[in-house]
Amino acid sequence: MRFPSLLLTCSLAALVAADGDDEFKNYNITNRPFPKGFRFGVATAAYQIEGAWNVDGKGPEVWDDFFHEKPSRSSDGTNGDVATDSYHLYKDDIRCMTEVGVDYSRFSIAWSRILPDGTADKINQKGVDYYINVFKELKAKGIRSFVTMYHWDIPSALQKQGGWLNPKVVDWFEAYAELCYKLFGEYVDSWVTINEPKQICHAGYGAGVFAPGVVSPGVGEYVCARHVLLAHAKAWRLWDEKYRPVFKTQNTIVVDSDWYEPKTYSKEDAEAAEIKRQFVYGMYMNPIIKGDWPEIMTKYVGELSRQQGFNQSRLPPFSEEEKKLIKGTYDYIALNHYTTYMVKARGTKSRSPPVSWEEDAQVDVYQKSTWKTAAIDWFKIVPWGFGKLLRWIKHTYGDVEIVISENGVSDTDRSGTLRDQHRIDYIKSYMSHMLDAIHDGGVNVVSYTLWSIIDNFEWTQGFNGKLGIYFVNQSDPSLPRIAKDSSKYYANVIKTKCLLDSCVEN
Ligand SMILES: *[C@@H]1O[C@H](CO)[C@@H](O)[C@H](O)[C@H]1NC(C)=O
Ligand SMILES: *[C@@H]1O[C@H](CO)[C@@H](O)[C@H](O)[C@H]1NC(C)=O
Ligand SMILES: *[C@@H]1O[C@H](CO)[C@@H](O)[C@H](O)[C@H]1NC(C)=O
Repeated sequence: MRFPSLLLTCSLAALVAADGDDEFKNYNITNRPFPKGFRFGVATAAYQIEGAWNVDGKGPEVWDDFFHEKPSRSSDGTNGDVATDSYHLYKDDIRCMTEVGVDYSRFSIAWSRILPDGTADKINQKGVDYYINVFKELKAKGIRSFVTMYHWDIPSALQKQGGWLNPKVVDWFEAYAELCYKLFGEYVDSWVTINEPKQICHAGYGAGVFAPGVVSPGVGEYVCARHVLLAHAKAWRLWDEKYRPVFKTQNTIVVDSDWYEPKTYSKEDAEAAEIKRQFVYGMYMNPIIKGDWPEIMTKYVGELSRQQGFNQSRLPPFSEEEKKLIKGTYDYIALNHYTTYMVKARGTKSRSPPVSWEEDAQVDVYQKSTWKTAAIDWFKIVPWGFGKLLRWIKHTYGDVEIVISENGVSDTDRSGTLRDQHRIDYIKSYMSHMLDAIHDGGVNVVSYTLWSIIDNFEWTQGFNGKLGIYFVNQSDPSLPRIAKDSSKYYANVIKTKCLLDSCVEN
């Protein structure tokens, strides 16, 4: 089989010479400090914390419908109707942030809280006031605002018209973004247009396991991806031309990625892992940085579509004008990262595999049973994968500034714990590999955002996936936030700029 030249020109052998488990067997946490000016934050998202789903004029959105229609869609039958009630208790959350000493808070605006039916015709002033109160409280505490406009919660009114599958969503999102810039621009230190397009499109409009639960593998998920990228690009261009000169802040998109490690040292497995990375991360970053889908995707999805009897590629192409629109719409790379997978080349490839984005890559992906896991099954703890991913991003996309916009781990115990040593170990080891990538790999990571400040509603995991450094007691009606051990560890890292008791400059 022939592979496009992009694969042959990479020095992949050097980059992924060995399985990280061998390579980092005797790994020691680095005693080198964080670079000067490095910033630390925490993250949340509207649906996971706000609650007040129908309070003060908020309109419904797809996650409200998703869980109301079928409560069993979350592992404990709960939903985000109340969540951690941060709509009323946001000052408690900000007090936790102050205790930890973070530089910034990453949070999201719920589209349907400010625009109940999704369009800018009707603004819900009470929803606007809520966010202004949050901004003011953060500012009063000296915490910067890093704000996501879209964290998966398209208004129900727009989903009724097809949501991310309707080409009009590009303009709907642009209008919503413009309103955000106008209403909140003065308070926001850095914008994110859209969070994790991979989850929106493949989980939401491919497998259908996330809201809005549309099952359209291999077709809808690509239409969604195209619209998400165009919506991001238009919103970013508008801000770049009209609002950047006024507010002088930055704007970008958050793309999440796992690390994909080849199973063996063979050329075939190395190529398979690179193909998977292109299907996962390249699918979104390549258009934004280089202006088009990765070559390998165009080739693979095009070939398979023909074999499967489609008249045209299931991966809808961008016009020349659209490529220009999308290319360069970022100020820095914002990366969410949690776990790692192994990749193995397929010996014999099916001529007509099932129609889906996963199958289109034509490689086998799995996790090792020897890896430690947290409460959520896929959540394997593989710290070295983080360092490898960061070095690969630099190798693939050049010397771009990187913000870690999410990283963290769930409790091992579903009912939660205040003694979360495993989270301290996770944060310490992931950050250590990140620091090595900075110091030895020259990767330009400038800040780190821990997910999350408080235990919150973890989508289909419900409250069984607790990722906070503060426990929220769901058995107590006042939902108190209680510090876990990891909050003290993170506070100390922020204070000392060091992962261990002491650090050595070199
Ligand atoms: C880790 O530290 C131990 C004890 O100092 C040392 O023997 C070992 O070589 C170190 N491992 C690496 C990979 O540097
Ligand atoms: C392909 O095109 C033909 C003729 O335009 C049409 O009848 C057929 O339904 C199309 N098939 C698919 C899979 O789109
Ligand atoms: C949570 O609240 C319940 C009910 O008030 C209480 O019995 C329990 O001790 C609390 N748990 C913690 C860890 O504070």
